[in-house]
This record gives sequence, structure tokens and C-alpha cells, in this order.
Amino acid sequence: MSNVLVIQSSILGSYSQSAKLLDNFAVEWKQKHPADNIVIRDLAADPLPVLDGEIIAALGGNGELNERQKAAAELSLNLIEEVKTADYVAIAVPMYNFGIPVQLKTWIDLICRAGVTFSYTENGPQGLLVGKKVLVVTTTGGAHRNTATDLALAHIQAVLSLVGLNDISVAYAETLNMGPEAQERGLAEATKAIQAFIAAH
Ligand SMILES: Cc1cc2nc3c(=O)[nH]c(=O)nc-3n(C[C@H](O)[C@H](O)[C@H](O)COP(=O)(O)O)c2cc1C
Repeated sequence: MSNVLVIQSSILGSYSQSAKLLDNFAVEWKQKHPADNIVIRDLAADPLPVLDGEIIAALGGNGELNERQKAAAELSLNLIEEVKTADYVAIAVPMYNFGIPVQLKTWIDLICRAGVTFSYTENGPQGLLVGKKVLVVTTTGGAHRNTATDLALAHIQAVLSLVGLNDISVAYAETLNMGPEAQERGLAEATKAIQAFIAAH
């Protein structure tokens, strides 16, 4: 039995393309692996606190913590535990204004912690969340792949690698807002990549 963590991050609710693709992923994964445990964390439905001075101090563990800081420190450890427990992590990465959703950034800010999820070594940072396979489902309205504006994917890949999540497969759904045919093509390509990921595991 494996543990699968699904991170949803779109703000578009029932209109979200990444949410639909990852919902389908979860259904098809469960059909193939009925005994697996799938945890879904929806960062838009259940938003996390934005990193600020108080919270960063809490994550550093310095001094006496107030109630808000205690809650944030506990939440951060819970989010990290969720990843540690997972054998597979599937993440929705929609592109908004060339970047990732702020909701996904808050998750990143709470799980990237020196001494907890990565350590600094003489050879640079070393990730501590190792041995997991990651599926990134990225959705974009336009065409950015392999160009300087492919920033949402570049960002998530850099962050995941920092914490040791460097076995990453990408399902790319692009040109979703460039007319019905381009959308259909983009979704079909991503669906194929998701099915290939499921078939391989
Ligand atoms: C606020 C906002 C900003 C967006 N910015 C971009 C962008 O910079 N580049 C792009 O190609 N598409 C952009 N889009 C289109 C989204 O990438 C596209 O709608 C995609 O389906 C979003 O994923 P989702 O449906 O899972 O939310 C934007 C959409 C929204 C709502």
C-alpha cells in the first residue's frame, strides 16, 4: 500500500483545468491501486497563512511563541509530515500572471525549512524529503513551454528539488485559453502524460 498526496492549488473552483486533471488522476490511481491511501490538500479551499515576520520567527523556533506562532509552527510540521508520509506527490501548478498561485506559494513557504526539509552542506543545499515520486500538472492559458516565460514550472521544479523531491514527471496542459482546438490538444497531452505516470507505477 502506498500513500498519495494530491495538492490542489487553483482558485477557479469547478472551472479549474488543473483540478479536473488531478481529480481524474486520483480516480484512475485508485482504480489501479484500490488499497492506496489518497490525501487531498486543497490550498484554495483551505488556505494557509502567508509567511510574515511573526511566522518566520516561529519557524526558526526562537524565543517564546504567541498563539498564532504556535499554530503556524504546528501547521508547518503537519504539512511537512504529509509530504514525508507520501510515496507519491501530485501537484497542480496553474500559471497565474507568469507565476504560481499565491496559495501554492504559501505551502512552499511553510515546507521549505533549513534543518527540517533541507540542510546546508559544503556542496550546497541538500534535500531531506527523499525517495518520493512527484507528478506536476501544470496548466497555462498560453504557450510558454521551453521559453523564458515558463516561470511557474521552473519555480516549482527548483523548490521541489531543494527539499529533495527531484524525481519529477511533468504533465503539461498548455494553450488552454487559445481556442477550443488548442485547449483540447493541451488537455489531451496532459491526460496522456498523467496516464503514463499511472501506468508506470
Ligand atoms: C489570474 C489569472 C492569471 C493568469 N495568467 C496567465 C499567464 O500569465 N499566462 C498564461 O499563459 N495563462 C494565464 N492564465 C490562464 C491560466 O493559466 C489558465 O486559465 C489555466 O487553466 C489555469 O489553471 P486552472 O484552470 O487549474 O486554474 C491566467 C489565469 C488567471 C485566472
